[in-house]
Amino acid sequence: MLYQTTKDHESLRQAIREFAENEIKPIAFALDQNNEFPDEIVKKIGENNWMGLPYSKKDGGAGLDVISYAIAVEELSRVDGGVGVILSAHTSLGAYPVEAYGTKEQKEKYLVPMAKGEKIGAFGLTETEAGSDASGTQTTAILEGDHYILNGSKIFITNAPKADIYIVFAVTTPDIGTHGISAFIVEKGWEGFTFSDPYDKLGIRSSTTAELHFNNVKVPKENLLGQEGQGFRIAMQTLDGGRIGIAAQALGIAQGAYEAALKYARERIQFGRPIAQQQSIAFKISDMATQLRAARFLVYSAAEMKHNELRYSVEAAMAKQYASDVCMKIVDDALQIHGGSGYMKGMDVERFYRDAKITTIYEGTNEIQRLVISANLIGRMPKSKKSAGGVAAKKAEPITGVRKREMIQTDTAQEAVDILVENLKKDGFDFTVGIDLNTPIVDSDRVVSVGKGIGSEDNMELAKQLAHAAGASIGASRPVAESMYLLPLERYIGMSGQKFKGNLYIALGISGAVQHLKGIKDAGTIVAINNNPGSAIFKNCDYGIVGDLNEIMPLLIEAFGTEEKKPAPPMKRIRKAKPRKLAPAYGVYVCTGCGYEYDPELGDPEGEIDPGLTFENLPDNWECPECQTVKADFIEEKYPADRQ
Ligand code: CAA
Repeated sequence: MLYQTTKDHESLRQAIREFAENEIKPIAFALDQNNEFPDEIVKKIGENNWMGLPYSKKDGGAGLDVISYAIAVEELSRVDGGVGVILSAHTSLGAYPVEAYGTKEQKEKYLVPMAKGEKIGAFGLTETEAGSDASGTQTTAILEGDHYILNGSKIFITNAPKADIYIVFAVTTPDIGTHGISAFIVEKGWEGFTFSDPYDKLGIRSSTTAELHFNNVKVPKENLLGQEGQGFRIAMQTLDGGRIGIAAQALGIAQGAYEAALKYARERIQFGRPIAQQQSIAFKISDMATQLRAARFLVYSAAEMKHNELRYSVEAAMAKQYASDVCMKIVDDALQIHGGSGYMKGMDVERFYRDAKITTIYEGTNEIQRLVISANLIGRMPKSKKSAGGVAAKKAEPITGVRKREMIQTDTAQEAVDILVENLKKDGFDFTVGIDLNTPIVDSDRVVSVGKGIGSEDNMELAKQLAHAAGASIGASRPVAESMYLLPLERYIGMSGQKFKGNLYIALGISGAVQHLKGIKDAGTIVAINNNPGSAIFKNCDYGIVGDLNEIMPLLIEAFGTEEKKPAPPMKRIRKAKPRKLAPAYGVYVCTGCGYEYDPELGDPEGEIDPGLTFENLPDNWECPECQTVKADFIEEKYPADRQ
């Protein structure tokens, strides 16, 4: 194992350092503030032939070794951790699987433009149910003729939506564990392949991260990467290399923070001398330098082993875990050395402090790295029965739980609106009553909520009229409040915002990013209106209409009624009948007061109703056993013809 870098390595470092200092450093603060992807910088990195450093010249790369690649990520991250991960995710997660498993044609079509920097690559493994347990993949790819039909979603995908080429993992054979997962090369722009808005992150804000949504995406058979069933292995092998990239990123961020702290400590005078000459600070600096040296050895050693085609999974895990753990320590000490100045926006060390954290999380949390290392030392831990071979063991369930998912398809928008409003009334909603538009979301029985699909501020007035007509308060998705400033921040709904637990949620032009859906998972009824039939919101709604908001909003206002609303009674949760695939043999009746569903198989022992009596045959004076609502106020749950 050599740890010495060569002259060539050091001249590459020099070139990239100059580039980073001259081109990235001056704009790093602005990129961070604006959450902005540096298109021009990435283009120049490609023109410098650094986007495919470890790939052969024949494949469009620079023909250098893995240490060269690690140095590149390190040097970019020394100035901006976001730019570092753009290169890392592109090179080791986007391009590598094609280099390792691609056919000649796949390499020509995809690896060459990626290695030349003409196209950006990304890697789609993580899902809501497949994080550390990567085997929990629920995205499916079903072979139909010459194409696989891809359905599902991926979250936290680095370089999305900027990347052009995505390596996507999906289940091709269910119920056989990791051996049922396959890898595919998927191009941006294919029909049914859409993105969420990029996330607003704590750090690495110059890189983009977004969700991928696949709605019946046709992936040509020839875009299967490797063999069917080889996907999990491809993912694991790719991540081994990716972890070297993240280790190098952590090393670079730590190096940047260390250098800033050293400079500051030499300049800052307290008690009559530079703080660097005071032992408490000097010892911190010496620890930082030692940790950096140890981390660098681990990173270059793993890179060298990969380059020499030795087994390096454990060494990559050690490098990633150690470099990122000490990175956290070093940025913390560096900020401490800067004192109050380091806490200010615009100081590099403040940005490094935020950028560092992700390195202990992505491409395998440091807990997973320890699991990989210990499994190699001690042997694999026994798996719980629940997770053993758990691929898609649990059927994919929408984030908002089981929903009716009734898509209202009619010839005209007017007909769709009429059916929707009729259904809602049948479900027990009374549109003669209403709440104030500004009722806090948590106290709202109903919310009309707007997403980016609302378009411009001009349409907000219409949305508010609709909220009034529906007897609802007004809410929004995060970007509408945060970036479009159409509503105050306290009115956005989502994982990081308000949680809606009322009875009716009408989502207008909301695509259904995971973060938003988590804020409405306890909503009683979800109505989705969006012009994109592939929007994830439709998999999470009770009623859906595909259509243009400009056309549908005025119709809905009319249908709900523009009259002054009577004050709504205090919010009472309307529980819904259990969604069933098929209507049961008996009529299903639900209490409008509390949502209790009468089950003839159980009867009502407290009301002295024997099992076997149908709802229709209950005595007229029978009352709901849970809230004493009278029989006449129960509503029948209707099932569409295809579910009878
Ligand atoms: N190389 C090749 N094959 C490997 C492998 C490796 N490093 N590790 C495991 N495998 C193979 C095993 O040999 C086994 O094959 P067989 O069934 O044929 O024997 C198969 O994969 C399953 O192995 P395990 O039973 O050990 O797998 P597991 O389900 O227990 O998972 C794990 C192991 C290490 C926890 C894995 O799930 C894992 O790495 N999890 C973390 C996932 C991760 O890193 N996600 C990051 C997402 S990407 C990202 O973050 C990108 C970004 O933003 C920049």
